[in-house]
Order: sequence, then C-alpha cells, then structure tokens
Amino acid sequence: MRCVLLSDTLDLRALFGTALAAVADRVEIVDHPAEHPEEVRLALGWNPPPDAFARYPNLAAICSIGAGADNLLACPGLPEPVAVVRVVDPDQARAMSHFVLWHLIGHQRRFSAYAENQRAGRWQRLGQRAAAEVPVGILGYGRIGRQVAADIAALGFPVAAWSRSPGADEPGIARHHGTDGLAALLARTEVLVNLLPLTPETTGLLDAARLRRLRPGAFLIHVGRGPQLVEADLLATLDDGTLAGAALDVFAREPLDAGHPFWRHPRIAVTPHEACDASDAAVAAAVAATAEALAAGRPIPHAVDRMRGY
Ligand code: GLV
Repeated sequence: MRCVLLSDTLDLRALFGTALAAVADRVEIVDHPAEHPEEVRLALGWNPPPDAFARYPNLAAICSIGAGADNLLACPGLPEPVAVVRVVDPDQARAMSHFVLWHLIGHQRRFSAYAENQRAGRWQRLGQRAAAEVPVGILGYGRIGRQVAADIAALGFPVAAWSRSPGADEPGIARHHGTDGLAALLARTEVLVNLLPLTPETTGLLDAARLRRLRPGAFLIHVGRGPQLVEADLLATLDDGTLAGAALDVFAREPLDAGHPFWRHPRIAVTPHEACDASDAAVAAAVAATAEALAAGRPIPHAVDRMRGY
C-alpha cells in the first residue's frame, strides 16, 4: 500500500526512511505531492501541510509519529472519515518512566541543591527523605501512565493516579477520577506528573488554583502537552513558594522562544520535548499494521477515538 509522508516541519524520510525500508514488503513510501493521488490511502504525518488532505480523496488513515495524535487531530482540513493512528510502544513508555524518575528522585534527594553547593564549594549534608514520605500524583493513566505509576510505586513512593474513567485501586496505586477525584489527588500530592493527552478538557488544566492545592513545596513534572499548563501561573506559584520547582519538557510554543523566562529560571529544568520518543521501528510497525488492516478491511489498531481526542 502507498503511504505519503506529510509534514511541514520534519523530514520524515530522513527520520524514518531506514525503519520504513524494513516494512517495504507492505508499504511503499512516497513524498508529497504524490503522483496518482487517488491511489494513496495511507499517510504518515506530523504538522501536515494545510493543502494535503484535499489532494488525497481516498485517504483512509494517517499515522502519527508518536504517542500523541493531537497535532493531527487539530488539522482543520482533516476529513471526518480519515482514521488517526497513534504509536503504542512499550519502550517509549519505559523511557518516559526513566525520565520521570530522574526528576522525581532529583527532587526527593535534592540533586539541584547539591549541584549549587558544588558550584559554591560548599560541603553541606542536606539530609534525606524516604520515598514513602514523597507522595506522587499522576495525571493520565493510559499505557504510559500505568508504566510510570508501576515503576514509581515499585520504588516505594505512594502513588495516586487520575484518569477520565473510574478504576479500582491497584497494589500501591490509588485511583481517582472526575472533578472531586482531581481535588483529592492534588491535596495528597507532592510531586505531580502530567501525562494527559491534549483535549479541550485538559487545555489549561494546570492553572494557579489547581497548583495551589498541592502539598507545600510541591514539584511539577510536565510531560503531557504544552497548552495544558498556564505558563504565567507556573511562574506565579514558583515565586510565591507554592512550588519548589518544575521540570518541563513541553511548552505552549515549541521551540521555546530564546527570551522565554523558563530558560533562566533557577527552579525550572527545561528539556526540548524529548522525554521519550517512540522508536523508529515502532513507528514503521504502526504504519505497516495500519496498511495491513486497511487492506484486509479490519479495524485499525490504536486508532484514536476522534470524539474523545485520544
Ligand atoms: C511525544 O510527544 C509523543 O507524542 O510521542
């Protein structure tokens, strides 16, 4: 099946060409604008050009290059019947878990204070807190959220997770849902990990009122999507002492502007939307699985519920 590459911002052939060559028995990769556009039923996309969808009248599915598909769902020209497919990659979930643990333990064991002390040539023992004394709240309990929650719980941190639908508590993980559940989770949380997908309901969710519900000296690990955090409110809650610090991997505008105050804030750690990538092989496997499902007329694995937004 022919698969057209659609991106205004990334060279998808350079990024995924080698991995896609491994599925060439099922997928023929073509560049946009492709010849014989009526023969194209599949696309791989990230920030697709605005005119792209009008050109391919028989497009049936578009695959994302990551776990999130918000970037594709937000395309104004995306026709209703086109299935949007996200990547589900267990290695990506593990990489996210490592990233979150880095910042969680960094906060618990005060790594940035030691780094400051080293720069000042200061020998000062800062004391230790056990993991059991640092409650963690996880927003989002999909495949990645479950991996992160399980790994954190295994290290002895008390974990609570918040999701859209209710679910029973699991060993070491208290489950919450709904508005009351969010308030309860925030009130018991010192380290808040945001892994939510971007939807109208999660846009602006992390505002000053909600951040102020966290335990004193809280720490935010923000790895969902930029527009979920009200950036000015983060600065206000750091400045008024509500938050001890924040690790941010996603931003309202990416790349982060050179003059943005986050870059130089002493209690903010910035990384360039790279907490965890789906592997090239997982992206190619998702494209191949989508091609096979389309060819066989079967349901497409990991197609996003377009009403729900993830
Ligand atoms: C990264 O942000 C992804 O969606 O995989």
